[in-house]
Amino acid sequence: MKHYISINDLGNLQSAVKEAISLKKDPYAFEALGKQKTICLLFFNNSLRTRLSTQKAAINLGMKAMIMNFGSEGWQLAFEDGTVMNEGKSEHIKEAAQVVSQFADIIAIRAFAGLVDKEKDEAEVVLNGFIKYATIPVVNMESSVAHPLQALADAITLKESQTVPKPKIVLSWAPHPKALPHAVANSFVKMMKLQDADFVITYPKGYELNPDITKGCKIVHNQEEALENANFVYVKNWSSYADYGKVLSQDKNWMMTKRKLGNAKFMHCLPVRRNVVVEDAVLDSNQSLVIEQANNRTYSAQLVIKRLLEDLK
Ligand code: CP
Repeated sequence: MKHYISINDLGNLQSAVKEAISLKKDPYAFEALGKQKTICLLFFNNSLRTRLSTQKAAINLGMKAMIMNFGSEGWQLAFEDGTVMNEGKSEHIKEAAQVVSQFADIIAIRAFAGLVDKEKDEAEVVLNGFIKYATIPVVNMESSVAHPLQALADAITLKESQTVPKPKIVLSWAPHPKALPHAVANSFVKMMKLQDADFVITYPKGYELNPDITKGCKIVHNQEEALENANFVYVKNWSSYADYGKVLSQDKNWMMTKRKLGNAKFMHCLPVRRNVVVEDAVLDSNQSLVIEQANNRTYSAQLVIKRLLEDLK
């Protein structure tokens, strides 16, 4: 694997999940692989899980991790070719990416969608700028349109908690006061397309995801109908894709409750707003898998970094 940008970069998902679960059982088995190797984690946005789990994964593999909150500490970057940098931007991605490449063996980037300009977000200027100009592998720690480390952690969690051969898995939109990106939902859908499951997506009209990503998926607009006989319910808010970045509804009826969840397991990537996205009774019950999902972020990152290290020239 050259870079990890999308869940599809893993090749066979089931093999990747199996390998990640074996790393979880013996986390230090490959400690020698990362000896004298460094990963540089660059954050253009906030994080708790991604930062700590990716650092922990690198430590488990014997690596050193350098972390920078680039959004608040780095020079403001310019990305356009031929740009005249006579305003706020102090450094160009061409130099920044090559300089970081000299200090590390792998770069990991978090750079969210701005949710103002769809074309700009879909161009993934930060992530693609590093891929273009860095001379070392790049890991996507959540970009404008994808969160593949989260999707792999979710696949691990599903595998560990699955009790029937072909589970029913529902991705349900939930209300949220702020406009949130589509990255988690997009990567979850992509991952689900690689699973043997009865997969259903439910959201209020106006909250369609990118149709190129949901093509072929079953969509049910009535949430309660979608949730019938579900084994797993993955809840996530996202803003409108068609009316790009807008909050069209905060309908409280879409919040996940214990009654609506039934006997299903509850999943969410975290952070989650209690009693807005999901009620306390769900999060505080043994039906919630959110803490294990967060735990599995370490083994998701560890699998990805291990494969990149193995393929370093
Ligand atoms: N789920 C997730 O990516 O969490 P953080 O934003 O805290 O990293």
